[in-house]
Amino acid sequence: MTGAASVGAAVTGTGFYVPERILTNAELEQMVDTSDEWIRTRTGICERRIAPKGTRTATLATAAGRRALASAELAADEIDLIIVATCTPDTPTPSTACVVQQELGATRAAAFDLAAGCSGFVYALATAAQFIHAGVYRHVLVIGAEVLSRVVNWHDRNTCVLFGDGAGAAVVSAAAADGVRGIELGADGSGAGVLGIFGGSYMPHAGLDAQADGPQIYMEGQEVFKFATRICATAAERSLAAAGVPPERLGLLIPHQANWRIIHAAAKRLHLRDEQVFVDVDRYGNTSGASVGIALAEAAAAGRIAAGDAVVLVGFGAGLTWAAVTLIWQGGTK
Ligand SMILES: CC(C)(COP(=O)(O)OP(=O)(O)OC[C@H]1O[C@@H](n2cnc3c(N)ncnc32)[C@H](O)[C@@H]1OP(=O)(O)O)[C@@H](O)C(=O)NCCC(=O)NCCS
Repeated sequence: MTGAASVGAAVTGTGFYVPERILTNAELEQMVDTSDEWIRTRTGICERRIAPKGTRTATLATAAGRRALASAELAADEIDLIIVATCTPDTPTPSTACVVQQELGATRAAAFDLAAGCSGFVYALATAAQFIHAGVYRHVLVIGAEVLSRVVNWHDRNTCVLFGDGAGAAVVSAAAADGVRGIELGADGSGAGVLGIFGGSYMPHAGLDAQADGPQIYMEGQEVFKFATRICATAAERSLAAAGVPPERLGLLIPHQANWRIIHAAAKRLHLRDEQVFVDVDRYGNTSGASVGIALAEAAAAGRIAAGDAVVLVGFGAGLTWAAVTLIWQGGTK
């Protein structure tokens, strides 16, 4: 779906924010019938971050957004559009992006939320690039942010060990050369039942005569696992092909951080060495729409990406959805 771009788009800054509170596997052992060994071997997760009471998705999103603006050396009022990818918005409406716009003082910016589950950050980045390519906007702030700890059932060992809170952000700006290529977005709504969060208008047990419980994650782990292992490598391959980048030129793969085994399977299929794959699922768990944004910002800050490198971002998750883009890196490591 990538056409000839009239204006180039590039990632010019990145930032992330995670809450300080660390929830370890050892603590989870006290909460549900699980073990550190089971969690590590099945998922690669050692710990995750939990937002304190009163902290909302917009708070994390604003902190990450502020860091991305600083890294891009942009003032808040230079931003034309803010897109927040989240499946844990503060409220159904107004959007979390509007709260972020106000908190950042991005007074000129349009703002909206984007719902694509764990593919959210990459979907949002691809959307931002369209506004730049079309010449509509010059600077778009893309943020993935989640407070999943509020929708996790902390009595369900099948899901509660997997998720964490955090936010990742990137500034996408008009550039001389196009650095956001190979956009590969997909969806398969027939898989809606295997992963998601009950809430909104679809509350099977809520109605005039029944009190709704809060939103809650549901998941058929093995179905999601099969989908994820297949789609992660496939989406990355398609993105590289659409970008015209030969696979051997791939510098770094930044996949959605759901599970180390899914990442490993994708890396194996793509014939990548360990140093070509970014992994932080061990420290943050699955932060859904925030995960690729956090990983991109961490990779940039750690000097894992050099100017001119081809970097593939891949998201996959509820919907079912998937999304991949190939970035030709031009900055954001300052
Ligand atoms: C969830 C997941 C880690 C489970 O791993 P798995 O190898 O498929 O494990 P299974 O579901 O087959 O469960 C195996 C056993 O472990 C048990 N188990 C599940 N969670 C457990 C936990 N936290 N601790 C200990 N045992 C657990 C199960 O009850 C099951 O027990 P049984 O054999 O007695 O019935 C794996 O399916 C997965 O990663 N799926 C994808 C999830 C994901 O990434 N979701 C978000 C995508 S965006």
